Amino acid sequence: MKSNLGFWKKLKKPILALAPMADVTDSAFRQVILKRGKPSIFFTWFVSADGLSSKKGKKNLLKDLYFTESERPIVAQIFGAKPENIFQAAKLVKKLGFDGLDINMGCPDKKILKQGAGGALIKNPALAKEIILAAQKGAGNLPISVKTRLGFDSDILNEWLLTILKTNPAAITIHARTVKELSGVPARWERIGEAVKIRNKYKSNALIIGNGDVKDLKDAFQKAKKYKADGIMLGRSAFGNPWIFNEKIKKENLSREKIFQALLEHALLFKKIYPRRNFAVMKKHFASYISGFSGAKEIRSRLMESKTASESVSVLKSFLERLK
Ligand SMILES: Cc1cc2nc3c(=O)[nH]c(=O)nc-3n(C[C@H](O)[C@H](O)[C@H](O)COP(=O)(O)O)c2cc1C
Repeated sequence: MKSNLGFWKKLKKPILALAPMADVTDSAFRQVILKRGKPSIFFTWFVSADGLSSKKGKKNLLKDLYFTESERPIVAQIFGAKPENIFQAAKLVKKLGFDGLDINMGCPDKKILKQGAGGALIKNPALAKEIILAAQKGAGNLPISVKTRLGFDSDILNEWLLTILKTNPAAITIHARTVKELSGVPARWERIGEAVKIRNKYKSNALIIGNGDVKDLKDAFQKAKKYKADGIMLGRSAFGNPWIFNEKIKKENLSREKIFQALLEHALLFKKIYPRRNFAVMKKHFASYISGFSGAKEIRSRLMESKTASESVSVLKSFLERLK
């Protein structure tokens, strides 16, 4: 049987995806990115299916699923280990108007593993299958994808990938490390090449997206070609660099004014969309944006002293004024 690719079918290859990153890739950051060079696809960070299935949890978590039309195509990522809650969450994701649903089967966080979710599902293929099927049932015609790793404590890609392929997902993103390895060893990209071969041998039309340590767009294009991946996902290289998907612009060649302006826009959007979110989230961005030029340290520490988004906006505005 062929997979339902939905919107994935329309994407130009190599597909370029911004990785889901908790507390980093919210709608504010996604909007700052898309104005400077839009990836083929955005993901929300992972949201608990159990939480979404409870009234109180749902109220809190809906802000993590906020998006604007300009961010399309956008896929909601969920995690969980209870098929019934995955089914309910998938129904909600469909109702909220997302273009697709992704299931996290790679997260190494202890709290997630303890629930039997994220990377723990690699050790429980029968449940993993049930979860994908529950998502497909709940999400109606939305394409379902999976984000995973090479294995739990050893590389079992060959058998694990077949388990997933049997459920006919639209796409599989593979972070080329095991769960145990966290991010501590270089990603093994030759395994992405192997994943593509396995998919071809199985005669599946599911897309294979490679992930791990991609530095920039040039690196992404090279890896897509070398390993024949349908797409490439970039994560940490986007920290403080909303120009990451722009082929013509390199952040290191930009003026401080341009960088401050992007950060100011980011802080203003954060303040508008998430008035009650912990401001510490925004501070992580300050450190990533403001680095690599003279005077960066002083500006960074002034920004770090601000206690609210409004305060940081005033600091940034005054720095921008001084540059004029
Ligand atoms: C701060 C942070 C948060 C992350 N949150 C998620 C998440 O919510 N869901 C997910 O599937 N992966 C998450 N990841 C993993 C990334 O999506 C990606 O797989 C990993 O960073 C490797 O890619 P990179 O080398 O391009 O960063 C997170 C990574 C980081 C650094």
